[in-house]
Amino acid sequence: MTTLPATALADVAQQLTSGGRGILAADESIKTMSTRLEQEGVPASATTRRDYRELLLTAEGLSASISGIILCDETFGQDLADGRPFPVAAHELGILPGIKVDTGTTALPGHGGALITEGLDGLGARLASYAYRGAAFAKWRAVFDVHTVTHYSAGANGHALARYAALCQQHGIVPIVEPEVLCTGAHDLSASVQATRLALSALFTELVDAAVDLTGIVLKPNFVTPGLDAPAVPPADVAAATFAVLRELVPAEVAGIAFLSGGHPTSRVCAFLSELAAIDGRPWPVTFSFGRALVSAALHTWGGTTSEVPAAHRVLLQNCRDASAAAAHPA
Ligand code: G3H
Repeated sequence: MTTLPATALADVAQQLTSGGRGILAADESIKTMSTRLEQEGVPASATTRRDYRELLLTAEGLSASISGIILCDETFGQDLADGRPFPVAAHELGILPGIKVDTGTTALPGHGGALITEGLDGLGARLASYAYRGAAFAKWRAVFDVHTVTHYSAGANGHALARYAALCQQHGIVPIVEPEVLCTGAHDLSASVQATRLALSALFTELVDAAVDLTGIVLKPNFVTPGLDAPAVPPADVAAATFAVLRELVPAEVAGIAFLSGGHPTSRVCAFLSELAAIDGRPWPVTFSFGRALVSAALHTWGGTTSEVPAAHRVLLQNCRDASAAAAHPA
């Protein structure tokens, strides 16, 4: 498999985010995936993590609503039961394979618990290897809490995201740029507005300074919502608040926006996306890059039992179709 030419970056970014299809985030770390398997009574191992990811990728007809799948390093290097490497099988199934390349978060000293995402050391060599093995895109996630985000933490994470994005483009890989403002907690909508503005403002300053080609990136933001423990607001209010922040801070050249689900229930995030996609005058396509909202019910249905694979596929495909229908408004 050869490295994707840099000239194809914009095409790939558009392919990922246009036409009502979206991205399946199946890139949980070994630790997180193991915990989720064990919560469903499935013993965690490299084999069960592989079986579960194979279940997701091989749901028949998945490519009708899914344009790309984000994998972690372990899965990217594993084979399906039929011997095909995951990235090869994804391409053959009409789904672009992507790779999560950050190595997680750690506290920023002296910043009240604010986090910085790590993984830049040696990243160029890792990207070259992933590109050679078929990666079309990558993902790097910065994490912000509304109570601890500061100008400094937004700038430091924006700088890391920009360096990651520039390296990806140098290696012919489309960077998914994810500044996630967490929705855990009881904060109100305005706290999410402020934190998301801070994160996006710093991010785009850094991306421009790093000479990242905005036509060849995908932005993966949170919906702007009150915290999960606060009273909910109507989806139309979430869409309006989210659009106002994005319209102010996200340049029109950005190829597309693919939202994370952040722990919101599937029906809620689909309603947020549907309302947002219906807003006139959007300069960018909007779609989904959901993890839990697409897969949690399928994992529960499967529970490690082979005979439940068809039922798990039905649940997964229904969630993907619902998300795709929500995104399917022309930009
Ligand atoms: O980085 C976060 C994941 O890619 C998206 O996960 O939709 O469950 O928040 P989520």
